[in-house]
Amino acid sequence: MTEMDVKAEQELAAIRALLIEAYGIEGDVSPLPGEHDLNYRVRVQDGGQYLLKLHAPGDADDLGMQIAVLDHLAQAAAGLPVSRPVLDREGASTVKATLRGERTARLLTWLEGDIWAKAASRCPTSVDTLGDLLGRLDRCLEGFGHAGTKRVYAWDIGRADMHLPHVDLIDGADKRVAVGAILERFAASVLPKLEACPRQVIHNDANDYNVLLDEDGRVSGLIDFGDMVETWRVVEIAVASAYALIGTRDPVGTIAALAAAYHRVNPISETEANLIFDLVRTRYAVSMCMAAKQIRENPENTYLLVSQEDVWRELQRLERENRAIAVARIRDACGFAPVAHAASVVRWLERNAHGFSVIVKPSVTKPEVAVFDFSASSPEAAQWAALDAAAAETRIAGQIRGQSADFGIGLYGEDRGIYQGDAYETATAGERRSIHLGVDIFAPAGEPVHAPFAGKVAFLHDDAVAFGFGPTVLLEHATDTGDIFWTLYGHLSRSSLAKLAIGQPISAGESFAAFGAPEENGNWAPHLHFQLVTDHLGLEGCMFGVGLRDQWQVWREVSPDPSVVLGLSVPASVIVARDKDFLVRERHRRIGRSLSIAYSAAPLKIVGGEGAHLVDEDGTRWLDMVNNVCHVGHCHPRVVKAAQAQMGKLNTNSRYLHDSLVEYSRRLASQFPDPLNVCFFVNSGSEANDLALRLARAYTGNRDVITVDHAYHGHLSSMIDVSPYKFAGRGGEGRPAHVQVAEMPDLYRGRYRYGDVDAGRKYADDVRNQILALAANGRRPALFFSEGILGTGGQLTLPEGYLREAYAHVRAAGGLCLADEVQVGFGRVGSHMWAHQTQGVVPDIVTMGKPIGNGHPMAAVVTTEAIAASFANGMEYFNTFGGNPVSAEIGLAVLDVIRDERLMHHCKVVGDRLMDGARALSRRHAIIGDVRGYGLFNGIELVRDRETLEPAACELDFVIAEMKCKHRILLSSEGPHHNVLKVKPPAPFSAADCDYFLEALDDTLGRLSP
Ligand SMILES: Cc1ncc(COP(=O)(O)O)c(C=O)c1O
Repeated sequence: MTEMDVKAEQELAAIRALLIEAYGIEGDVSPLPGEHDLNYRVRVQDGGQYLLKLHAPGDADDLGMQIAVLDHLAQAAAGLPVSRPVLDREGASTVKATLRGERTARLLTWLEGDIWAKAASRCPTSVDTLGDLLGRLDRCLEGFGHAGTKRVYAWDIGRADMHLPHVDLIDGADKRVAVGAILERFAASVLPKLEACPRQVIHNDANDYNVLLDEDGRVSGLIDFGDMVETWRVVEIAVASAYALIGTRDPVGTIAALAAAYHRVNPISETEANLIFDLVRTRYAVSMCMAAKQIRENPENTYLLVSQEDVWRELQRLERENRAIAVARIRDACGFAPVAHAASVVRWLERNAHGFSVIVKPSVTKPEVAVFDFSASSPEAAQWAALDAAAAETRIAGQIRGQSADFGIGLYGEDRGIYQGDAYETATAGERRSIHLGVDIFAPAGEPVHAPFAGKVAFLHDDAVAFGFGPTVLLEHATDTGDIFWTLYGHLSRSSLAKLAIGQPISAGESFAAFGAPEENGNWAPHLHFQLVTDHLGLEGCMFGVGLRDQWQVWREVSPDPSVVLGLSVPASVIVARDKDFLVRERHRRIGRSLSIAYSAAPLKIVGGEGAHLVDEDGTRWLDMVNNVCHVGHCHPRVVKAAQAQMGKLNTNSRYLHDSLVEYSRRLASQFPDPLNVCFFVNSGSEANDLALRLARAYTGNRDVITVDHAYHGHLSSMIDVSPYKFAGRGGEGRPAHVQVAEMPDLYRGRYRYGDVDAGRKYADDVRNQILALAANGRRPALFFSEGILGTGGQLTLPEGYLREAYAHVRAAGGLCLADEVQVGFGRVGSHMWAHQTQGVVPDIVTMGKPIGNGHPMAAVVTTEAIAASFANGMEYFNTFGGNPVSAEIGLAVLDVIRDERLMHHCKVVGDRLMDGARALSRRHAIIGDVRGYGLFNGIELVRDRETLEPAACELDFVIAEMKCKHRILLSSEGPHHNVLKVKPPAPFSAADCDYFLEALDDTLGRLSP
């Protein structure tokens, strides 16, 4: 043992003694690194761990602050992953110790995790959870105060201006220039805005050595409160971001994600959001000044030089970012409008558009416009790309002439492949700007350009670069509330610029420029690029004309759709397609969160459909086995054509006479036996059931309803009331007093099962029981709701005689009987047009929806003349959309296709094949407990044990996920136990599709562990 080892061992022994004496703790002690303090890890026998800190004598305020904050957090934030103080035997949080001089000892609870800087698990979740932790921490620190935090601290970037005198100490002119500019900007423009922001004590040093991550990359701890200071709250986000972004692909995205996570738990103001990007840069600038100062004082400290390499590299990356875009992205992530005044500019434009002058050809009052598709996905993309300017000009002019158009346009929002070259690259590796931010107007060179409204010349620029903007003018305008914006005119003639001077006023309608020829306009076929600009991003006359798809929500505010100015007779813009992550986030933000997403862990973006298949954005085809709505097949050409034709003629409400409506009611009613002759037209299945309830109440004079357990009849309040699936499920408010629930006739796991020939009558007895329960209170039923096959009940076919007996009980009590055919109607069951017909009954009211319009929102009620007459009590029945001519034509087309393509018979043949196949599989896979259904409305119930019928819900989840991922088949689960595989594909689902499904199911069940 060397002398040093002996000394170290003696120290450890002293510490062990201290631990026993002061805290009654015995354990292994090992030293940890520390700059000023001595730190030790203490492991006790039961596996528990502690951190022992022996603080060097020094600033009492500083130590007091660190002790006070942990005491405060122990009280105020029990759940935060920060160390907790461990009290000594006397209840004190510090102990005097002598080790290399007098020291103050503190024992803290140990935090598990790897240091961020070294953790392999670092990922986007780390950034989110760090923002979240800091937000929660700062909320707890809001009321915290301590003398030690009220200091003038060099590491407080809220006082960054104090470093201005140190800029000259930095080695390297480029670094000095960059740091000097950042600090000057801080003093001139950041600090005055900070003055309006909240101040409080913050941690101030969530750097990559002070943050711990667990193995999933989630933040598991924050340590070292020695840099706390009372300053602007937003500094916390900036400091953490400066470290979190090191080495990430998209540094601004990292800052935005961290700020957004902080904001979710501790909302920041717009002003704070605006300052974060500058403050991150300020942190780097301060760090470089501090390092320069320390290196001057201690030239041997090479460690500082190394850590400064990271700082300078990251600062340079941020310097390459466009500041305005960075700020807009951070604002957007926090839920603020990316460009604060963009919406108000657009509103001003929309309000005033009627008075705008026409930009080209003001003499033509209603211009004919030829629309060109320059998108990368255009079928002509390769041809356009191959043309030089002259050839493109000829082709464009030819097409304009061919269409007798006055000019041509290229669209806003189009994703174009034509923008090659470095100019379109962003600061992020591999990213290119490609979305067109303006509208192109094609006309010959020399065509005059007129100002749409008054303004003044703000910027003139001539980039003289091939495929650049060429001569460009930006006119500046102001709204009536003083918001400034610009209109941009690119590809002008060079002589246009010569005639204009900065500041020169331009009046509305004034012809101030002209289209340039290829040799002067950047080498393009002559056209005007017209763009709105709410923020020129500091680029002035060099403003971009093309934006980034992945940040479209920001770019579309920087340059909104100029259609509002142009007022053309054709759309001048397209919707920019976005990736799935963005669409999910925006859905959550802008659409009610209770709207669910199928396969939420890996949702699908579906852009097309054909027959029984759906097509996603990559062109992958998915076999759709759940969509009974597009009953005659996705986008069936006959239905599409009928809709298009009628939409081109007339669509109005049903108050006028129209042949299609009457013809449709005749055709629909003819699908039912007498006396079901009268139709009402509505817009959804829920509405149909609601109207049916009103009809029944009007006819019977009763109010009560009997419904079958687990049923779903719609989302209206009245229908939630009669849907046990909803009122007895999550978020439900229980059974309303006017509703009786009859036992669900489940032949597989209910009281009476397959083989009981009397099961129908026995289950129907419970309908009678409900009637008796009503009668006991002097009430009678208005309506009995039932489907012909129970959908949400688990695709259950009804026992023989069930509806016949139940209807008899209800009618005997003066009630009416409704068959809800919203799911199961229109020939899907194969043997009949309507599922209730499999029970040999004629209801009093039938409701239809989903398949009735093949996806078009329409629905219907069919009932008897007597019931309809009782409803005509003086109150008008009006439904704005129900029965409109377009819906009627679509309804007719659906009936035609069902008839002409023999779809009912097809459902029977393929449905039988499917059930035979599934039953054959059940002989090999014991997990298949039951196969049931009619036609193409089927349930395959999975159980873990055929005796106990224990539901195999997790297994079904696996099956559904596998069928999607491995076989591209879309399915879903059903039933009270979520263990029934629901099958209800569009009717064109073929025998080959059926066999493919059965093979895939066989394969998937085979991979379920026994
Ligand atoms: C049996 C049944 N009835 C009614 C409805 C409600 O139809 P809609 O969603 O068109 O309002 C549904 C919808 O799933 C249903 O399954």
